Amino acid sequence: MTTNRLVIGVASGKGGVGKTTTAVNLAACLASQGKDTLLLDGDLGLSNAQILLGCSPKFTFADVLSGQKTVEEVMISGPHGLRLLPGASGVSELASLSHAEVRGLINSVSQLPPCDVLIVDTAAGVSHNVTLLLQACDHQIVVVENEPSSIADAYGIIKVLSQAIDVSQSLHVLPNRVSSHKEGAAIHRLLNDVAMKFLDVNINYLSSIREDSNVVKAARAGIPVIDFAPSSLIASDVRALASKVLELPSASRVSGGIQFFMERLSDQASERV
Ligand SMILES: Nc1ncnc2c1ncn2[C@@H]1O[C@H](COP(=O)(O)OP(=O)(O)O)[C@@H](O)[C@H]1O
Ligand SMILES: [Mg+2]
Repeated sequence: MTTNRLVIGVASGKGGVGKTTTAVNLAACLASQGKDTLLLDGDLGLSNAQILLGCSPKFTFADVLSGQKTVEEVMISGPHGLRLLPGASGVSELASLSHAEVRGLINSVSQLPPCDVLIVDTAAGVSHNVTLLLQACDHQIVVVENEPSSIADAYGIIKVLSQAIDVSQSLHVLPNRVSSHKEGAAIHRLLNDVAMKFLDVNINYLSSIREDSNVVKAARAGIPVIDFAPSSLIASDVRALASKVLELPSASRVSGGIQFFMERLSDQASERV
């Protein structure tokens, strides 16, 4: 256990823009650099982190939620010692979890072992349970494509988060599938201008990720892109993202593993009960 316990939530307004790709590859890259990394697949509707990592878990997060298994029993090891808490496809969407299940979620997160970095992949959109998870993170990375509906939906999630918590230091935009970093920077400028004007919120720019056919090939092979094609555009972009992420301040002040994450989740959840 180190002092830098960073909790990063990966979000998007619209589905299919690259959240899971980003979460999985970022996690694998951090793990390859010796960071004790844990990936929580919080997209219970469409869980596919395990597919991208080439793992076939016997049990999933759903078994933890239902009280059948502990987190330790469900957690599996992936490439570079990355630990994955797998989601369960199609069991129930995080968006539709009951209060009891949300409490189960909080309990299960409280059982997570200590780590350097916790990456939380989430479902698309602004449902209460998704924003609950994101609010409990130190940082929120909003993945966006250069496409009007993705940009509009990214603004939507930025708006909801900024109204719920102080996001001045924590909100980052990550343009994905861009043709150049210049294009990525322009997407950030556009979103930041609108957020400054209408929400009085500043959004940070981390980096951007270029379109690369190795993403699909690596996914099919179940291998992280940094291992599948180490000298590809995408691998270098993922490594750049990982360095940026490691520079982010951890907001976690509470000792005892990632207990703080659970506490924050509890606080958020109790507000709705
Ligand atoms: N940088 C990229 N270059 C090429 N294809 C990408 C890139 N990022 C994501 N994709 C592809 O886009 C699709 C959606 O990605 P995914 O990570 O599953 O999105 P989400 O989790 O937001 O629904 C996948 O087929 C993935 O391979
Ligand atoms: Mg996904």
